[in-house]
Amino acid sequence: MVFQNLLIENKERIRYIIINRESKLNALNKATLADLHAAITDAFNSPAVGGIIITGAGQKAFVAGADIAEFVELDAEGGRLLAQHGQATVFDLIENGNKPIIAAVNGFALGGGLELAMACHIRVASDNAKMGLPEVTLGLVPGYGGTQRLTQLVGKGKALEMIMTADMITATEAHEYGLVNHVVSQEELLAKAEEILNKILLRAPLAIASAIKAVNAGTPDGVNGFETEIEEFGKCFGTQDFKEGVAAFLAKRKPDFKGK
Ligand code: COA
Repeated sequence: MVFQNLLIENKERIRYIIINRESKLNALNKATLADLHAAITDAFNSPAVGGIIITGAGQKAFVAGADIAEFVELDAEGGRLLAQHGQATVFDLIENGNKPIIAAVNGFALGGGLELAMACHIRVASDNAKMGLPEVTLGLVPGYGGTQRLTQLVGKGKALEMIMTADMITATEAHEYGLVNHVVSQEELLAKAEEILNKILLRAPLAIASAIKAVNAGTPDGVNGFETEIEEFGKCFGTQDFKEGVAAFLAKRKPDFKGK
């Protein structure tokens, strides 16, 4: 398959999906999300593929977030639909996949980029990687499952600190918090991801699929946090602060938030 925004490579039973918008630090625009949906679905349906490694093109970024330029036109309902559609077609699809998916985080993983890595089953990071959920700097909250998956991975206190400060953390800090499984040099990154995935591929595939399903089923019942996130994400798009946050990013200046 050939995609506008992805490179696809096969290495024995491993399918590489490489996000390839290097000039925009691999930011996830709608077209890239549609490509990801198609590429992941194809990998799940291809008997020759045992598992997937997702990474970003170039040396600088895994994915620097959702494409902020596409936010400009969105109102509250548009924002809600963006989050709902993205979660269902890409992020939940990955998390609930019947084949193991490893994120090889090769640089910035911010906003939707960190959310993409967190939807994967295992994360390996290069030592230059920087991670964070900077949405509040745009007058938004994470909308692709970040409030839920970050909390599951690092606990509520650390998740709230990262989300509310919008700070980026280093790969070493991410490893200390349990956000990434391993940190290696950039040169060793793909070899480490392959080593883990090749070990998993020696195990029984149906048991691996069952393990993913059972671990995912362990999240608590009750209020659905993902639904709440979608609603709140949409509401943020109706605020003046959101307009100011996005305008400031695009004009490369600091935002001046009014709380309106
Ligand atoms: N959406 C759209 N475009 C983005 C982007 C995003 N999330 N992240 C980076 N880009 C673009 C920049 O606008 C720039 O485009 P240009 O060359 O046409 O001006 C290009 O990618 C390179 O980014 P730049 O900001 O010049 O690189 P930098 O090294 O100075 O800074 C970052 C790197 C990651 C700190 C910075 O790009 C950034 O803060 N990005 C946004 C992160 C974010 O808020 N993500 C969450 C979105 S919900």
